[in-house]
Amino acid sequence: MIKRIAILTSGGDAPGMNAAIRSITRTAINRGLEVFGIYDGYKGLVEDRLELFDTKSVSETLFKGGTILGTARLPEFKEEDYQQKAIETLKKHQIDGLCVIGGDGSYRGALALHKLGVNVVGLPGTIDNDLAGTDYTIGFHTALETVVECIDKLRDTSSSHHRCSVVEVMGNRCGDLALYSGLATGAEIVVTADRPLDLPALYEKLNYYNAHKKNHAIVVVNEKITDVSHLAELISENTGFSGRASVLGHIQRGGSPCPFDRILASRMGNKAVEILMNGDSGKCVCIQDDHIIALPIETVLTMPKENKSRLYELFDSLV
Ligand code: ADP
Ligand code: F6P
Repeated sequence: MIKRIAILTSGGDAPGMNAAIRSITRTAINRGLEVFGIYDGYKGLVEDRLELFDTKSVSETLFKGGTILGTARLPEFKEEDYQQKAIETLKKHQIDGLCVIGGDGSYRGALALHKLGVNVVGLPGTIDNDLAGTDYTIGFHTALETVVECIDKLRDTSSSHHRCSVVEVMGNRCGDLALYSGLATGAEIVVTADRPLDLPALYEKLNYYNAHKKNHAIVVVNEKITDVSHLAELISENTGFSGRASVLGHIQRGGSPCPFDRILASRMGNKAVEILMNGDSGKCVCIQDDHIIALPIETVLTMPKENKSRLYELFDSLV
């Protein structure tokens, strides 16, 4: 029976991480466990930087963006020496369960610890929505709202000037932020790994819209695919629109979590404690069809992400 658990946030921060920390803390304390907050992800775990939490430690955090625990990237955590240091910290404080909130990199760290005998559970905290096995990750919907708000504003100015806005959004290698924001803003074109850049088709489409008296166009581009400034120049040279590029950048990771993310994080935090209290380890929390479930981290890291072809078809049928 576990008695003491600890929580860390790792990788890129995401709105709703605090709601998850709060849910884990309060669920665990209400069930008689002790809870430690670990600062700055695996780095703080290796460096033995943690604090005993009480229910007040997480007061007024539900609506706060970022993570109160801080986060970090520690590439050396791939090495077993570092993982052993983390285990020493856990042993020193008699912590027998660890909750890791982060993306796929953080899950790899969690899996390594699980294989070394640590009781560990993962919660999907990333704006990228790039983890398999879960319909949504904590932070995705808030980032989506931010992107949609920005694109709506860009549309105001681009339609006044007969311009085409080329908007780069985050998501790492995952196109969900681009696809969903494209759908929600009525963008003309989305460019993602699943929908690669096809310049002749893009020019043809934009010239068609231009000829049919559209006074603006929006092209949403998933980061790491192409240089959006260059693409905007090509659009100016090859279509009737004047192209302008905007890279939304880290603004997408900030802000108060939307209600969906607050509730999702609260549900997932609750489940994470239940998993550890049931003596289970190496699992991660997922949401599928509004059910909160647990899957092995190893499965999630190896299975393909759900194909979004139906949403791409919807996109195509609406432009
Ligand atoms: P995210 O969790 O958002 O995907 P990263 O990919 O940056 O973010 O990973 C966060 C941290 O997880 C890394 O800085 C590192 O400490 C740890 N990590 C990543 N990959 C591994 C791995 N293969 N083995 C152990 N730890 C890893
Ligand atoms: O994983 C979240 C994320 O914001 C990605 O969308 C992006 O590629 C990356 O992190 C940016 O990382 P950094 O904050 O280190 O620039």
